[in-house]
Amino acid sequence: MSATSITLTRPDDWHLHVRDGAAMASVVPASARQFARAVVMPNLKPPVTTAALAAAYRERIQATVPAGLDFQPLMTLYLTDNTPPEEAERAKAAGAVAFKYYPAGATTNSDAGVTDLRKTYKTLEALQKAGLLLLVHGEVTDPNVDVFDREQVFIERQLIPLRRDFPELKIVFEHATTKEAAAYVAQADGYIAATITPQHLLFNRNAIFTGGIRPHYYCLPVLKREEHRLALVQAATSGSPKFFLGTDSAPHAAHLKEHASGCAGCYSAPAAIELYAQAFDAAGALDKLEGFASFHGPDFYGLPRNTARVTLKREAWTVPEVLPFGDNTQIKPLMGGETLDWKLQP
Ligand code: NCD
Ligand code: ZN
Ligand code: ZN
Repeated sequence: MSATSITLTRPDDWHLHVRDGAAMASVVPASARQFARAVVMPNLKPPVTTAALAAAYRERIQATVPAGLDFQPLMTLYLTDNTPPEEAERAKAAGAVAFKYYPAGATTNSDAGVTDLRKTYKTLEALQKAGLLLLVHGEVTDPNVDVFDREQVFIERQLIPLRRDFPELKIVFEHATTKEAAAYVAQADGYIAATITPQHLLFNRNAIFTGGIRPHYYCLPVLKREEHRLALVQAATSGSPKFFLGTDSAPHAAHLKEHASGCAGCYSAPAAIELYAQAFDAAGALDKLEGFASFHGPDFYGLPRNTARVTLKREAWTVPEVLPFGDNTQIKPLMGGETLDWKLQP
């Protein structure tokens, strides 16, 4: 008989975008309801490039957490060509956990990203020394590389040399989307791990084109072929401590996704843990959800595991199709209007 209820240690989200201002106030409660902690991405406009900006951003986030919910934002700084090495110690002192490497132009708000990793080597040395992590958006930006191949090429051109030069820098391969990334991380030593999003576990690239172009399934790195989805499901449900939960929930107003040049990002926060439960259940691996969602992340970051527990029940419910977002706009959550089988109990 299949389980009707599962209880887990309270999970964390190791990759989250919450934006700022009124938009932030609309999305933070969804994550705070489910997760104890979240690693908050620094790709604001302008980006969060200093420890002081990260500390101020953390305070703005905390002000939007509903009373009675216990939610801790873990802050990251945006690495640029000009980040001074001293910023690593300042970041550590301010309680930040990592720097984020966006290759310039790779994704939403990445224009200020790194143009050449070698320009940042002194700062990477300082990160390694401070014990801060480097989180990577693992795609090359070379326009001659096919958009579906940009992750594999990143491993060859950038990640392998980077790890050779900084063997003790802890790296998170964010939102891994290919069998090559899953295999690379699985076989590597203990200094690299990967997050996996719910959309890359649940969908392949057909979802973007079913019956017409579907912008709410467009994110970066873009959804891949079915063989890649299967490899990601295998990695996430393998029990390997190198894979953990990072939603990459990336809210954009609906009208900016339903657009001639639509924004990349899936807004998964309203049903995040339920989406993962759906994927793990489909793989017959609900017993592996707790490690992925609640243990492997804190273990890799060197942080304590949570102690509170949460319960999911097998209970059909429909994800809202539209939600209010910021000042008078709307947002469409991932799988809005569709039924999920698992519901987090309040
Ligand atoms: C993210 C965003 O909108 O900030 N978008 C996305 O498609 N994943 C940026 C990112 O994580 O690459
Ligand atoms: Zn990214
Ligand atoms: Zn992201």
